[in-house]
Amino acid sequence: MTTVKSGGGSGRSQGGKVRVLTARKRKNSSNRWLERQLNDPYVKAAKAAGFRSRAAFKLAELDERFGLLQHVTRVVDLGAAPGGWCQIVLKARPKAVVVAIDILPIEPIPGVTIFQQDILADDTEALLRDALGGSADLVLSDMAANTVGHKMTDHIRTMGLVETALAVAIDLLRPGGAFVAKVLAGGADPALVGELKRHFAAVKHAKPPASRAGSSEWYVVAQGFKGRADEPPLPPPVPDGMDDAAD
Ligand SMILES: C[S@@+](CC[C@H](N)C(=O)[O-])C[C@H]1O[C@@H](n2cnc3c(N)ncnc32)[C@H](O)[C@@H]1O
Repeated sequence: MTTVKSGGGSGRSQGGKVRVLTARKRKNSSNRWLERQLNDPYVKAAKAAGFRSRAAFKLAELDERFGLLQHVTRVVDLGAAPGGWCQIVLKARPKAVVVAIDILPIEPIPGVTIFQQDILADDTEALLRDALGGSADLVLSDMAANTVGHKMTDHIRTMGLVETALAVAIDLLRPGGAFVAKVLAGGADPALVGELKRHFAAVKHAKPPASRAGSSEWYVVAQGFKGRADEPPLPPPVPDGMDDAAD
């Protein structure tokens, strides 16, 4: 049996699984979190791959399913700390312009412009737009409000962040662009889904395998942004083999 020191407490490894012994002053919920971290294969894989968070795999899996990162050149990452999603974007598209924002500090990531501020601040969209230098192909939001344990309050807070993220996406996306946001409790509200369908050609819900089965976290994936009212509509699709035609 192996004894594992972790933080202020200790744990024992039984058959490869780590059990955390209850430190006198640590709450049971902290113990459960620590135990889950120590036994989570995604945490181990993230560490081995040099990703800053296990959340990195969620975006990688969503990309695999929806092809989100194909051809993107400008990406906005809302609620980006500690930076796992930024790393996945840059792994797929090393030359992409990536702009990230979070209330929490983010250690610098080469190739990413980082803002430390609340997305609800008045100047957020202007800051992001200036840093992007053009319309975004993809707006990502992995934001989650700090939970207080009251289901309805937590739901309302998180949905408020999703609505704000959608407003940012509508403001910054190019026609045809995509929006991904974390939602709770099995999916987005019917009103939000209606709003998404008004602005995007395809709206789907997904729970990537890396999202813990026991969590109420889901993602909404909206593709084919229809454009803002003040913009001309999308040009008709180019026939096959004509993409590179000179004008
Ligand atoms: C699950 S974490 C994001 C993990 C990230 N996708 C990654 O791969 O490393 C959610 C983040 O949302 C941020 N957040 C929550 N509310 C926010 C707000 N109002 N403005 C900006 N960031 C916010 C939190 O600070 C937190 O870092």
